[in-house]
Amino acid sequence: MELDHASIGRIRRANLIRVALNDLKRDAQTAACEAGVSAVAVGELLDPSRDVSQRDLLDLALALSHRYPLSLRDLIPIEDDAPTGVRTMTQRESTLSTRRFSRCGIEYYEYLDTAMTRAAMFRPELLRMLVNVNDNSADNPAVSWNNGHFLFQLTYFIGDVNYYHEFNGKRYCFEMNDGDAAIGMPYCRHSFTSRRTDGENAILALTFGGRLPGDPQQELSLLGPELAGRFVLDGSTPDASIASKIDFYRNRLSLTIEELAGRLNMTITELTSSLTDAATLSDCQLKHIADVLHVTPTALQPSPDVRGQIGVYIARQRDSPVWNFPGDAKPIYRVRELCGTKAVHGAVGLEMTLLDAPANTDTDRKDYLEHGLHQYGYVVGADQMDLEWIHEGVSRRQRLNHGDSFYCKPFVKHRFVAPDNSRSGDRRVVLLRIPGKLGPDQLDEATTLGADAIQRLISDTTQWYSA
Ligand SMILES: [Fe+2]
Repeated sequence: MELDHASIGRIRRANLIRVALNDLKRDAQTAACEAGVSAVAVGELLDPSRDVSQRDLLDLALALSHRYPLSLRDLIPIEDDAPTGVRTMTQRESTLSTRRFSRCGIEYYEYLDTAMTRAAMFRPELLRMLVNVNDNSADNPAVSWNNGHFLFQLTYFIGDVNYYHEFNGKRYCFEMNDGDAAIGMPYCRHSFTSRRTDGENAILALTFGGRLPGDPQQELSLLGPELAGRFVLDGSTPDASIASKIDFYRNRLSLTIEELAGRLNMTITELTSSLTDAATLSDCQLKHIADVLHVTPTALQPSPDVRGQIGVYIARQRDSPVWNFPGDAKPIYRVRELCGTKAVHGAVGLEMTLLDAPANTDTDRKDYLEHGLHQYGYVVGADQMDLEWIHEGVSRRQRLNHGDSFYCKPFVKHRFVAPDNSRSGDRRVVLLRIPGKLGPDQLDEATTLGADAIQRLISDTTQWYSA
């Protein structure tokens, strides 16, 4: 039986509290007594059939987090703002969020929100440039620089826009054109101006988080500057990165160099020398070290150099890889990669053009898209199209016009369809797909534990033993 949104919400609430109490080996009575709250109230919160007010939930969460080593984040479920699998925002709704900010007394940008969700760290905006320039100088006094921000930013350019970027004290100006894209690294100062006074000169500033914002950010903050800084290993060269990771994992086991060398059938001198020049370590030796340290060989790979040479990746439209989906024989979409994003922890930026729109409604059609990333989309094409998706057995369809945007949950099967089954028109979306907090480590853990364990993790509301 399919559960409605409210029932799922009650289960998620009861599940979070029950799991927290189970982990602490407390039943409802004990927890109520120790936290100084009513046992009836705790019982109601643990009962997935009972509606409970947000006020009561917050009161209990505060009491439990005060008494036990729990945080409110452990006890209050994130509200699901996309229960149908997709959440849309119309251009009109975006327009209602319009705000302008001045810099040095001059109105600089106009900001419009586009689709966002609580499920993943997207903060995508449409920014209109209000300052025009007639050169490409990074030192143009009309350019007002920001202080940089922690989120990565995939920028999609609409019209003729200058992109200013600062890295290691050096300033750059890139003349960007319609359809170009760039990914900027966190905390790099940047700015944008328009090179034209007519037409739409704007950017999609698709800011998004990697896996540090949220709980990891809280953990680092709680550890404090000195300890948090220790998680930054030496990544100055690939060799140094491998050596520092081996050290990090070796220290976890309190394993001496002598003991590690012995297990690898190496002398201490050989091992020490190999660690200063990790390139001399063979794949076989690295695998052996990984085995000894109880990590996967990939855990010892050098950290990717996400900053690159100048802290930004520029992708010109003319140079972007383009391919047909589902294939060249009968293409339905033309896909264009917006940036080489392997450096940005699994994020993917695409421009997708709907080429064909088969009239049938066969669910086995090959134009469905399905992937394990949180997806944001913005309609850049002039012509409308429908987003069709299937979630929990229900098929839904939503008309999207130019300027509309949407969020789609991972693994929701979806496709784009021309409303009139027309083959002509400009039907294009810019897509940004991110893994959220479910990266390679979590994929491994979920795969190892299996589907039943994951289902139980998110829905179990029972006590850890039967009384
Ligand atoms: Fe930005």
